[in-house]
Amino acid sequence: MHTQVAIIGGGPAGLLLGQLLHQAGIDNIIVERQAREYVLARIRAGVLEQGTVNLLKKVGVSTRLEKEGLIHHGFQIAFQDESLHINLTNLTNGKNVTVYGQTEVTKDLVEARAKEKLLTVYEADEVTLHDLEEKRQKVTYFHQDNKHEITCDFIAGCDGYHGVSRSSIPQSAIKEFERIYPFGWLGLLSDTPPIDPELIYGKHVDGFYLCSMRSMTRSRYYIQCALNEDINQWSDDRFWDSLRKRLPTDLQMNLVTGPSIEKSIAPLRSYVVEPLRFGNLFLVGDAAHIVPPTGAKGLNLAASDAHYLSEALIEYFHKNSNAGIKQYSSQALSRIWKAERFSWGLTNLLHRFPGQTGFDQKMQEAEFSYLKSSENARRVLAENYVGLPY
Ligand code: APR
Ligand code: PHB
Repeated sequence: MHTQVAIIGGGPAGLLLGQLLHQAGIDNIIVERQAREYVLARIRAGVLEQGTVNLLKKVGVSTRLEKEGLIHHGFQIAFQDESLHINLTNLTNGKNVTVYGQTEVTKDLVEARAKEKLLTVYEADEVTLHDLEEKRQKVTYFHQDNKHEITCDFIAGCDGYHGVSRSSIPQSAIKEFERIYPFGWLGLLSDTPPIDPELIYGKHVDGFYLCSMRSMTRSRYYIQCALNEDINQWSDDRFWDSLRKRLPTDLQMNLVTGPSIEKSIAPLRSYVVEPLRFGNLFLVGDAAHIVPPTGAKGLNLAASDAHYLSEALIEYFHKNSNAGIKQYSSQALSRIWKAERFSWGLTNLLHRFPGQTGFDQKMQEAEFSYLKSSENARRVLAENYVGLPY
């Protein structure tokens, strides 16, 4: 088999890139390790920047998003006993974010791909990349015990943090930057109405919490937990009690609890690899970078990477120009580092760090107090939250 672009990984980065390329007449095959049902069932975050929504509209997969997505004009920060409203729309000249689960984005993209009869190989084992520095590359994999081979002009590594793409690059050709945080998030999904129409990011002496949602009947809550926490020790009741204790007193009685649909622990990490290109392999999305979820930037960065790479490949195939693909890494990294900075900053403000000193606590308090007192400070926060321009 031959294709112009072999896409490794069928998560949101690979799927969106595939649609953007297909729309420009560039053929592509997605090779995904997991089964389709597994990919569709993964629960992830759910706040979309306007830029992400625009890309989904551009590739014609926004019908359900426009019907079911919730436009949010602001969010709350609850810091110990105080509360601050961030009015995104007023602070950013009319911008906002859309609450729509990544699970739903993935479903819409998978359906669009199937409708166009574009090839996605699911359950591909031992995916291996060859000849990355040659003019033509090769991807091999096993499917139901048979070995297959795809030749291609480019490979897009969209296979997430644990994928094969980044690890196919010699260590000497890349540099990695990382911060691992000494805590995780324990998340719970339930079919209960959200506590508030807007998201609440909170800081309490027990640690961070987030009240989020998927719809007006489905809530997503998180609480900061220790890294070595055992999920089996967390009954739904224990989770609800811990969350309720962290909430501002006036909101505690609004919390509607119910059985969990999903409960999981995620570690927090900041990570970037540079550059995003090795020969004719390009890294996109979580394969290239991880942000702590505090700024809701993971999916949005995957979307902006897919946008930059699609433009670069379109320039290559349509105009026979290398200029775009030469620029892809530096162009995408410039936006990635700013989102890293934002997610790191918000994580530092809202979490309780083990061994935190009195000075560290005062820094967090001063930062919250500055946000309260300065519209400029709130504007900076809002500008980053709605997403920096492409
Ligand atoms: N071969 C083929 N596919 C692979 C391999 C491999 N060796 N390793 C992983 N994959 C697949 C995974 O099964 C997954 O479906 O690559 C896909 C990567 O998808 P994501 O992890 O969702 O990453 P990405 O598409 O970059 O989306 C970023 O997802 O993790 C969240 O916070 C993140 O919201 C962000 C978004
Ligand atoms: C979520 O709804 O899962 C969510 C929302 C906002 C975040 C992180 C996660 O910052």
